[in-house]
Amino acid sequence: MRTVTKDNITEAFLGYMGDDVNPRLREVLGSLVTHLHAFAKEVNLTHAEWEKGIEFVEKAGEISDEERHEFVLLSDVMGLSSLVDMINSKPEGTSSSVLGPFHISGAPPLEVGGDMKDRFEGPVCLAEGIVKDTNGNPIEGATVDIWQTAPNGLYSSQDPDQDTYSFHGLQTTGADGRYAFTTVKPVEYTVPSDGPVGDILRACGRHPWRPSHLHFVVKADGFRSLVTEVFPEDDPYLDQDTVFGVREDLVMQYQHMPAGSFPEGFALSGKVDEAFIKVDFDLVLVRE
Ligand code: BEZ
Ligand code: FE
Repeated sequence: MRTVTKDNITEAFLGYMGDDVNPRLREVLGSLVTHLHAFAKEVNLTHAEWEKGIEFVEKAGEISDEERHEFVLLSDVMGLSSLVDMINSKPEGTSSSVLGPFHISGAPPLEVGGDMKDRFEGPVCLAEGIVKDTNGNPIEGATVDIWQTAPNGLYSSQDPDQDTYSFHGLQTTGADGRYAFTTVKPVEYTVPSDGPVGDILRACGRHPWRPSHLHFVVKADGFRSLVTEVFPEDDPYLDQDTVFGVREDLVMQYQHMPAGSFPEGFALSGKVDEAFIKVDFDLVLVRE
């Protein structure tokens, strides 16, 4: 197109794409650019504002590395990650929720009833449940990849005082589909806010807090993989998670168990005399 105007530039962009372009790419990129052009026109975007946007992208690139994923964080705090989760979630199964940037692959095996608390101080939390299909049948051989922060609110990759796999474990279910482990009570924590995404949060008058949670990635042959988290219903940040990860079915209630009632069958059996908290949460997978 020779005479490009603000009224035909979107059409020009769409027309420049070749005939043999992948149809899904045409649909997704075409729609993205259509919305981008409409947005720039709607807000009368100035050069200074456009430059600020470019500067942001450059800074986010500079701060990103193997462990720091600033663009993922941007997507999280903008609600895009959660929106994609919800678009692709199946209502029959447990809702999915953000993976976040702190999952690490290669977590060590954790026997059913095993302990992730290790040397860390904090209220003992016993979590258990059944990995099952949408008919309620237990799934044998499912892997449950579990991770959370230490009591200081930091994931192992953020904290030089933790081992690589501290508060990470990979459990495999038996015929009863059961997963079970002990840990410390999860704490609320802030997403990294020392980079450009933190600048956006502050500029928008937003806080960086997430409600306390346990993360799970659950996989089983023949089922859709599930990436999710569970949250206690009494957490002060439940209604204002900065990454929009909370779903109704992911909210659980802690059971407060009295001193002397710690059960058999756990790595910590016989070692916990005090009161502890218990989470019962089943994980429902949808067939592929
Ligand atoms: C997390 O829960 O680990 C997380 C999720 C999104 C952004 C930052 C952290
Ligand atoms: Fe987290």
